[in-house]
Amino acid sequence: MKKLIPAYLRVPVLFFIIFGMIEYFIDSGDRPAFIKFPMVNVILLVVLVLLIAIEIVISAADAIVYQILPEEEKAKLAAQENLKLKDKVWFKNLMSKLTRTVPIENEASLLLNHDYDGIKELDNNLPPWWVYSFYACIVFAAVYLVRFEVLGADNQEMELKKELAQAKIEVAEYMKNAPDLMDEKTVTQLTDAPDLAIGKTLFENNCAACHRADGGGQIGPNLTDDNWILGGGIKNIFHTISNGGRDGKGMISWKGTLKPKEIQKVSSYIMSLRGSNPKDAKASEGEIWEEETPSVVEVK
Ligand code: HEC
Repeated sequence: MKKLIPAYLRVPVLFFIIFGMIEYFIDSGDRPAFIKFPMVNVILLVVLVLLIAIEIVISAADAIVYQILPEEEKAKLAAQENLKLKDKVWFKNLMSKLTRTVPIENEASLLLNHDYDGIKELDNNLPPWWVYSFYACIVFAAVYLVRFEVLGADNQEMELKKELAQAKIEVAEYMKNAPDLMDEKTVTQLTDAPDLAIGKTLFENNCAACHRADGGGQIGPNLTDDNWILGGGIKNIFHTISNGGRDGKGMISWKGTLKPKEIQKVSSYIMSLRGSNPKDAKASEGEIWEEETPSVVEVK
């Protein structure tokens, strides 16, 4: 017998439903279950083989049953199979359950005894699909009303606000444990010798050409004095190195070249140069920086 869905669709569809259920029910953390637990692959393979086997058995059984049918039964079956969907018996039954229509031959039984200038009225049943949808709407409305108007559940706007607030907390949490994502607001000054040593190497490799190896200044300003053009303190220095100096002055943004953690180290190293008074240093430029001055200086 021909099935509603052919086997070459049925097998993959069933397989993916089972696959989906396995992924849903097995707690495998952030990796799919079939990668985390190799055993799942074996189970899936068995499932696939079983599905194919069942299909083969069913179609074989169908073929045998068909063979032993008498001729007129065969003809009946063939006729049934060639029917259009809307002529099939089960489909007709379903439709009449959903609509409860009265066949046109029996229309007289529905006729109401009015006659409005020749316009007659039939007393049709409300179709069950409509009636039950209507009941479902009433139930939905009641639940909705109680949930949102009486019990005060969150509406969409509130949900969004809560999710955003939660996301903010999670981002802050993430930033705390991921120093490579630090910015000038979260940066802290490092004072440990190993960190400063790395900062020194970074400085000598990238910055000494303009600021001199001792930070005394050349093309770029003196980094060892109390005067800062773009603001002193760890946060401003981090900001300057990340975003660069004023346009056209030659201090580029190092954001893409150095990681935030490296910028933190080189900034801390620069902080440690303060008051080192190298020989022939460049004259001071900018304002004397007081650490208390809180806000980050906006550049450009
Ligand atoms: C091509 C030359 C050049 C290089 C390379 C360079 N700088 Fe600069 N830097 C400058 C100039 C020029 C300025 C002044 C910018 C301004 O006036 O806006 C400056 C400004 C600065 C300032 C701010 C000084 C102040 O007074 O506010 C800091 C901090 C700084 N540089 C750090 C670094 C670091 C760290 C590196 C290496 C990662 C580096 N620079 C590489 C040229 C350079």
